[in-house]
Amino acid sequence: MPEATQMTENVLFERFGERIAVDPGLNGLAELARLSARGVCRRFLARDVPPELLRLLCACALSAPSKSDLQQGDILILRENDRRGRIADLLPGMPWVREAPVFLVFLANGRRLPQMAAMRGKPFPNDHLDLFFNATVDAAIVLATFLRAAEAVGLGCCPISVIRDRAREVSQLLELPQKVVPIAGMCVGWPAEKGALTPRLPLAATVHHERFDDGKLTAQVDAYDRRRAALRPYRNQRDPARFGQAEFYGWSEDKARQYAVPQRADFGAFVRAQGFHLD
Ligand SMILES: Cc1cc2nc3c(=O)[nH]c(=O)nc-3n(C[C@H](O)[C@H](O)[C@H](O)COP(=O)(O)O)c2cc1C
Repeated sequence: MPEATQMTENVLFERFGERIAVDPGLNGLAELARLSARGVCRRFLARDVPPELLRLLCACALSAPSKSDLQQGDILILRENDRRGRIADLLPGMPWVREAPVFLVFLANGRRLPQMAAMRGKPFPNDHLDLFFNATVDAAIVLATFLRAAEAVGLGCCPISVIRDRAREVSQLLELPQKVVPIAGMCVGWPAEKGALTPRLPLAATVHHERFDDGKLTAQVDAYDRRRAALRPYRNQRDPARFGQAEFYGWSEDKARQYAVPQRADFGAFVRAQGFHLD
């Protein structure tokens, strides 16, 4: 499949700024081409996503591997305007939450396992950080697999972690019981535009061989900032009143400014209030 080979090499060059060889004899080249070219989607056509398609995608997502086969990631589907509209009201900066035909919430479910222990009359001496962590990892894998399945059939997706800014209200609206927490939402619909390609850090910064090594981080981030700014410059600078107007405004400046403001400092308290023990 020479076309997919060339496409993937070109897209990966744009994404990572380096040549990554693709063997034209590999299986699954069409999938690799799609994965490498994917992008987030925040604008959707006014066209429904049929319930049976959504059901199929949920089944594919929930076919993902699961820690100890514990199956601790759940999906909550919101189609009606009632609850979803109220979540959208909480997130005025993200109009795509209201506009997408379907909104999903991926849940870390640390409840089923102790429920089963009670059902089977067994002790449950595992009510500690690992319960939360395992359920969160499972839910994140389900989210990523859903996204991959949805994009495979031509849908566009935007994960929404901003729901955790209002975790308490969202959980109340969705009637989440103890030991169930939302890890992220997701807008799903037919794309109204092709998502732009977001360049990524070079593989030398994020793929380690034999031992961890970030000795060249400063130079790698500087080079990435420049490469990314040439392709996808930021339109606005964050918080110029506090940090001034930077002459060159790159990704690392943007992320440093973003995280110079407390982000969800109350999330641990929320998770504890939902009944998880984090020790
Ligand atoms: C866990 C997770 C949470 C995210 N939360 C939001 C969000 O709250 N709002 C939003 O507009 N995009 C959100 N995104 C989308 C990211 O901003 C997007 O993936 C990132 O900018 C990289 O772009 P790309 O997916 O096109 O490569 C989220 C993505 C992930 C994986």
